[in-house]
Amino acid sequence: MAKLTAQQLEQYRRDGFLVIEGFADEKACDALRERARQLVEEFDPSGVRSIFSTREQTRTSDDYFLGSGDKIRFFFEEEAFDPEGRLRQTKERSINKMGHAMHDLDPVFNDFSRAPAVASLVSDLGFTEPLLIQSMYVFKQPNIGGEVTCHQDATFLYTDPTSVVGLWFALEDATRENGCLWAIPGGHKVGLKSRFRRAHGGGTRFETLDENPWPLRELVPLEVEKGALILLDGLLPHMSHPNRSRKSRHAYTLHVIEGSCRYPEDNWLQRAPALPARGFE
Ligand code: FE2
Repeated sequence: MAKLTAQQLEQYRRDGFLVIEGFADEKACDALRERARQLVEEFDPSGVRSIFSTREQTRTSDDYFLGSGDKIRFFFEEEAFDPEGRLRQTKERSINKMGHAMHDLDPVFNDFSRAPAVASLVSDLGFTEPLLIQSMYVFKQPNIGGEVTCHQDATFLYTDPTSVVGLWFALEDATRENGCLWAIPGGHKVGLKSRFRRAHGGGTRFETLDENPWPLRELVPLEVEKGALILLDGLLPHMSHPNRSRKSRHAYTLHVIEGSCRYPEDNWLQRAPALPARGFE
């Protein structure tokens, strides 16, 4: 099993991210894409109008979103609907993302997420009791793929102490043209800027911990080829621009937390007691 080298680990600790080209092979990427296609095909969108927006996540935090932590649910692009509320294009070209427990509920996603190479990598990062807390399939649709504003994943998946790491798998080439990731090298050393918490009486709210704006000029593009894996420290500020190109930019993300760290009851993502977060076993 390939191990992270001392140099790769040093780079990860210094920058807050690490790009590993060629991590997943073509066949594995295509199997995941095909499974995502099938799940979208089976999804009946009638009555579901949940959109995903990082700018307005408080407003759009409906029960459908808040209940998705242990399910497979579908969220539309902000620009998917016309003023009358009808889809502007096909369902397949309107979904922003799918989440948040494919890795536990779907055999194809389970196999990809719990591959021995993934488990070994996570152990190299120092996890002793890793829990796979969240999976997302991000479509970043041609023309309407929405922006994801600069954020830290620990804002949404907070533990005490902070432990979340994001694994971002490119299932297609990701370029500046189709909305690749951008990150601020070293930005993970600044500390957590906000927490996204469930509010008393329903919904969610952002709690600001640090008012200083992100130094957005320091963002660098992380252009990668299909099959690449990008490791993201949970405190690393990152974002992606809208996709105005004619190419999609499919990516799969998996988030891992340390089981011994406290997971607050007011984190947005909660699992049913019957379906607790599991590790790689
Ligand atoms: Fe993120």
